[in-house]
Amino acid sequence: KELKYIDDLFEREDLEDEKLLELIEAKDQVVLEHLYSKALEKKILHYDKSIYMRGLLEFTNICKQNCKYCGLRRDNMNVDRYRLTEDQIMDCCREGYRLGYRTFVLQGGEDSHYSDDRLVKIITNIRSSFPEAAITLSIGEKSYESYERYFQAGADRFLLRHETADEKLYNSLHPGGSYKNRVRCLKDLKKIGYQIGAGFITGLPGQTSTHLVKDLRFLKELDPHMIGIGPFIPHSETPLKNFNGGTVELTLKMVALTRLMIPKALLPSTTALGTIDSQGREKAIKAGANVVMPNLSPTDVREKYEIYENKICTGDEAAHCRQCIEKRINSTGSYVDMGRGDYVDWNASS
Ligand code: SAM
Ligand code: SF4
Ligand code: FES
Repeated sequence: KELKYIDDLFEREDLEDEKLLELIEAKDQVVLEHLYSKALEKKILHYDKSIYMRGLLEFTNICKQNCKYCGLRRDNMNVDRYRLTEDQIMDCCREGYRLGYRTFVLQGGEDSHYSDDRLVKIITNIRSSFPEAAITLSIGEKSYESYERYFQAGADRFLLRHETADEKLYNSLHPGGSYKNRVRCLKDLKKIGYQIGAGFITGLPGQTSTHLVKDLRFLKELDPHMIGIGPFIPHSETPLKNFNGGTVELTLKMVALTRLMIPKALLPSTTALGTIDSQGREKAIKAGANVVMPNLSPTDVREKYEIYENKICTGDEAAHCRQCIEKRINSTGSYVDMGRGDYVDWNASS
């Protein structure tokens, strides 16, 4: 019966909630293999066998938010906080460019040191030094006006996971934050003209399969260009330290279902998945993911960007990761694409 649901989903790119729920809870290996292979087939239809590379720059670990799952939350006093200077950021981009990257992702905590003026200066600088590269921001919740200023300075994409589409669960995990504002941000970003990335965490404490169906529904409706999905990994200096983390299997199921529901989305194979399983990133690629985001941050700060513990690649140079990830991608039968890697219909729709 589940095999038929999967074929139906492949054809229609949608499925009733009860059937989605059954697939989320499926345990049978034959069903899971079929799900992953249909998701891979769908991915190949839109993106061929290419996997896009993004260079990730973690430029500040200072954050005014207090997300209960995150090791960088403001109440965690056991973090060696850092900020990269503008020169350091430019150096990382140059090194990334030299290694072939044509997308830079500037990610960080919500750090008010980086005022809009400072951010605009950094974005303008990267834009003029690397005119053909895509600039992606992942710096949290801001006003419409701020997002607009970054866009006008040359940023073209923005990653802001919705984390969970259940309003109650969202609000319980984000003291001082609100689901409504998170969604407002995503809508504003889309309206301004960014390629937007939403996404969610699997295995959050209190999360049920019904919540995950809501994530799929929310995404289908929002129709973002990118969707990041990674497992919750408990951090010992957070209120959620004693909870179990998300599993590889559940994360892979959600990646595959997302590929089948929102077929053209760019889906990263996440570092979190590579952290809980040494083959996690390869498995995600075989289940429909088509993006990887190797780290370009200077090695001396990498360990300090500890959103969860035992994160991979913290001791490895950018050049090392570049080679490592290529081998891993090739081992799955896909290949590396070093282009900007825009959303498939981007030029047609913009
Ligand atoms: N501060 C920005 C934000 O929250 O959008 C960007 C950086 S934040 C560290 C990036 C993502 O890390 C979050 O969207 C969240 O999904 C993920 N994350 C944080 N803590 C995590 C944990 N313990 N396990 C898994 N993912 C986590
Ligand atoms: Fe800050 Fe992002 Fe971590 Fe939340 S997830 S505490 S906003 S860095
Ligand atoms: Fe960084 Fe493998 S991707 S060491």
